[in-house]
Amino acid sequence: MNKHIILLPGDGVGKEVIESAKQVLRAVATEFGHTFTTDEQAIGGEAIDHYDTPLPEATVKACQEGDAILLGAVGGDKWDTLPADKRPEKGLLGIRKTLGLFANLRPVKGFPSLLHTSPLKEHIISGSDVLIVRELTGGLYFGQPSERRENGNVVVDTLHYHREEMERIIDQGFQSARLRHNHLTSVDKANVLESSRMWREVVDEKKKEYPDIQVEHLLVDAAAMKLITQPNQFDVMVTENMFGDILSDEASVLTGSLGMLPSASIRSDGVGLYEPVHGSAPDIAGKGVANPLGMILSVALMLRHSFKMEGEAAAVEQAVKESLEQGYHTADLQMEDGQLVSTGQMTEAVVENLTVKGVSD
Ligand code: NAD
Ligand code: IPM
Ligand code: MN
Repeated sequence: MNKHIILLPGDGVGKEVIESAKQVLRAVATEFGHTFTTDEQAIGGEAIDHYDTPLPEATVKACQEGDAILLGAVGGDKWDTLPADKRPEKGLLGIRKTLGLFANLRPVKGFPSLLHTSPLKEHIISGSDVLIVRELTGGLYFGQPSERRENGNVVVDTLHYHREEMERIIDQGFQSARLRHNHLTSVDKANVLESSRMWREVVDEKKKEYPDIQVEHLLVDAAAMKLITQPNQFDVMVTENMFGDILSDEASVLTGSLGMLPSASIRSDGVGLYEPVHGSAPDIAGKGVANPLGMILSVALMLRHSFKMEGEAAAVEQAVKESLEQGYHTADLQMEDGQLVSTGQMTEAVVENLTVKGVSD
């Protein structure tokens, strides 16, 4: 198959992990006989420096024409004092919104060989397998007005949702649950927020269409606690934009590191942008020590969701699993045993396992 992939490295470790994605793509193409062409485009701080905007027109056009998009990460101290519209993060929010990528799927499944790297007790996290379905193009992130008033002493951020925006993400939650273990936890703050009360109404209406799915409502504060005390209680969690952002970083603790988590930002027709959950990690950027596995597992999600290449996706995930079982790990994984490696070496291990286990043998 021929596929055209747009690469958006962005800033900090985003650039480093995109290099890993490229190597894995080359290995998949060779092993499985595909042709992947790539086109690198600017976004975030990088784009601000070169084009004075975090989301150049050329980037949007390329993304609209590609078969799928891989994004590293955006942001960094250098751009933190710029006005809201000029910040790197605006580039990421802009591409999600422009492409209509309203559903962000964040699978959180630890590899057995990493159980002991989590600060949580092994018997608590063992067997946990959660999918966070996060609304991605609405809520507090996009509501207007968002501004300072009265000489800068009053701030307003608006939490805005249309019922239809809730319906489509909640549908996605139910559909994801149907493909997994038929359990959906809807997370909200219905004891305080009007938006959450409407969210709950929509979930209760929708559940009539999905009688096979067991539904539970949970307030976000309790959900945050249960996610790390009883993670096995969860199958699919569906929630609005900001709650999903926060809960997914928290959930990464189940896997040993934020650097492990992949994500897929999709819309109904299968178009997708695939990105690790982590950010540009300014504290470790440029050192070649970032964990590339969240990015590499995002490549697997792209192969599966956008290209329907299940065998290829499974091969990448298997290569990651084997590399970890061989003891290779980056510094973010708190391991005393095994072999501490760089971003490049971790990637080589995955490529090596992928190549040895590919369809050619
Ligand atoms: P972060 O996710 O960049 O880093 C949080 C912590 O996790 C840091 O200690 C970092 O070193 C570590 N970490 C993250 N990714 C890692 C990896 N692959 N390997 C090893 N360790 C890793 O979050 P932050 O520090 O709060 O934010 C830094 C910048 O990134 C900010 O500008 C923020 O806006 C941006 N950000 C971007 C995205 C994105 O592009 N999707 C996501 C989150 C944050
Ligand atoms: C993420 C990030 C982004 C978000 C920021 C950088 C805008 O934290 O992808 O999780 O909050 O969506
Ligand atoms: Mn986040």
